Amino acid sequence: MDSPLFIPLILGTARQGRESEHAAKFVFERTKARAGVETEFIDVRTLPMKLDDAGEQMKDPKFAATIERCDGLIIVTPEYNHSFPGLLKHALDMCLKEYIHKAVGICGVSAGIIGGARVIENLLPVMREFGLVTIFEDVNFGKVGMLFDERGNLLDENFVRRVDKFLDELIWMSRVLRYGRESLPPM
Ligand SMILES: Cc1cc2nc3c(=O)[nH]c(=O)nc-3n(C[C@H](O)[C@H](O)[C@H](O)COP(=O)(O)O)c2cc1C
Repeated sequence: MDSPLFIPLILGTARQGRESEHAAKFVFERTKARAGVETEFIDVRTLPMKLDDAGEQMKDPKFAATIERCDGLIIVTPEYNHSFPGLLKHALDMCLKEYIHKAVGICGVSAGIIGGARVIENLLPVMREFGLVTIFEDVNFGKVGMLFDERGNLLDENFVRRVDKFLDELIWMSRVLRYGRESLPPM
């Protein structure tokens, strides 16, 4: 239980000019700053993925090893037509058993004011199917175009507190689930 928690972050869009990248980098930096936590930035753009296949049979070994090693997962995703980007789902579907009994927290990003609330809601049943355990804190980066300058500097300091609260909960849940995986045999 003394070794650092491993909580990688997945940026869920490959769109040219994506604003979600600013939000993802900000959350990543706050995660990196946490004592006792290791993290890694996973960009769906750089994951080797086939477009003529799907699921575990096209599993990328490096991605699978990262998910296998993790204690928790952060997903930063924009809302596309009230749901998640197809490429994010395509990437996540490469793994299955690697997710079981790990914690996950979701940050939604949108141009609209509700900050990706609908993409978060729509991801919840997917997380459940993977055996991931969702936390009840989210971060909603609404009106994202006004939250960061063109270099990605945060313009609204309220998000420092919001992301830290989200991380507090995710780290706690990751720790609890690691304790469970290591200490309690499956039923
Ligand atoms: C295909 C597509 C669908 C979108 N659908 C929504 C939506 O349903 N709700 C919303 O608030 N914004 C929507 N947007 C705008 C995004 O919220 C906006 O681009 C924001 O900057 C986050 O996405 P990004 O990381 O691609 O920039 C959509 C954008 C794209 C490209």
